[in-house]
Amino acid sequence: MTEHLTALWHWYVTIATIVSLIACAIFLKMQTTRRLPKGEKAELHGNVWDEDLAELNNPLPNWWRWLFYITLIFSALYLLFFPGLGAFGGKLGWSSTGQYQAEVKQAEAEFGPLFAKFEKTDVPTLAKDAQATAMGQRLFLNYCAQCHGSDAAGGKGFPNLKDKDWLYGGDPAAILATLNNGRAGVMPAMIDAVGGEEGVKEVVSYVRSLSGLKHDAALAAKGQAKFAICAACHGQDGKGMRALGAPNLTDNIWLYGSPEETIAESIRHGRNNNMPAQLERLGPAKLHLLTAYVWGLGGGEPPIATEPAAPTVPAEAPPAAAAPATASAAPTKK
Ligand code: HEC
Ligand code: HEC
Repeated sequence: MTEHLTALWHWYVTIATIVSLIACAIFLKMQTTRRLPKGEKAELHGNVWDEDLAELNNPLPNWWRWLFYITLIFSALYLLFFPGLGAFGGKLGWSSTGQYQAEVKQAEAEFGPLFAKFEKTDVPTLAKDAQATAMGQRLFLNYCAQCHGSDAAGGKGFPNLKDKDWLYGGDPAAILATLNNGRAGVMPAMIDAVGGEEGVKEVVSYVRSLSGLKHDAALAAKGQAKFAICAACHGQDGKGMRALGAPNLTDNIWLYGSPEETIAESIRHGRNNNMPAQLERLGPAKLHLLTAYVWGLGGGEPPIATEPAAPTVPAEAPPAAAAPATASAAPTKK
């Protein structure tokens, strides 16, 4: 941080530091050299606590005085050798940035070849590699667990990464795209579109019926008619649309929860959810490793050989319906 100091602040800090060190030394000397005249007894200084604990005018004990001098000498030496005195960098030339860069360099030398090897390995193979999985897990615990949980099972608003239900897709390319660029799941408030609170109730019943949850059949029938406006994103059959990250509403797997009030909340106010982009933060090698780790957690879908353009994905692969049939073979075996 020393490079941020202007000349004025450099001198202000330097002078203030030196003056206070000297002042401390002078004060200490003044307080410890005044000895009691020979033969005279220390006098009471005015205060007595706990019946017999009295404050006398004895000078400070020597051990205490010297401890204080040593800290002053230590401070002076420290400021001579290490950064701390204004913009002065210290005689040793040490800096926390320099140390960090040296450590990064060392780590790169150590792990660089390993990462390079992993980067050339495809995701399904990597997911079976114990060392790659261990490294992937450590990265996950550092960079992802605060949102997705240390077991990757997610929580309200944070998707479970271990199941076969994917908002955006569970093949290696889709997971990598999620990590590289992040994702934004946006559902607008729909309360007006469904005709107010009564409409919300009807659509909630219909949505619950899609997952086979307890619902009012009459309300659900009315809700079904209104679902056309939802179908633009969630699909005619309610099975979601990966290009938009619109969840499958038929699999009884919930990003926010299945209680009527929670579903009503989604419809009333909409949702706005964000997975932050990671490419700049972690770089391609680590993200490749993380992709393999997430893919190998249990829900990974087979790689798509020729990458289709994004908008065709939802049409040919509605999320969970396709998952049991196509995805169960590859990812679950170890
Ligand atoms: C600040 C919180 C946060 C962090 C950190 C975070 N995520 Fe996410 N992630 C989310 C949210 C929220 C979503 C859901 C976005 C949505 O609903 O559109 C998400 C979505 C995802 C998805 C898509 C899941 C699907 O069903 O398609 C994957 C994969 C993922 N995250 C992996 C990771 C990995 C790996 C990391 C660590 C590098 C990570 N996330 C870090 C919040 C986070
Ligand atoms: C513009 C696209 C769009 C429309 C229109 C839309 N949704 Fe959504 N919906 C989404 C997206 C995207 C999400 C996921 C938000 C997120 O990632 O947090 C979502 C989330 C939800 C959820 C939460 C699901 C869960 O797992 O917790 C429910 C319930 C829902 N929508 C129901 C509806 C209903 C009912 C309608 C029609 C009245 C509707 N949506 C209209 C895009 C849409």
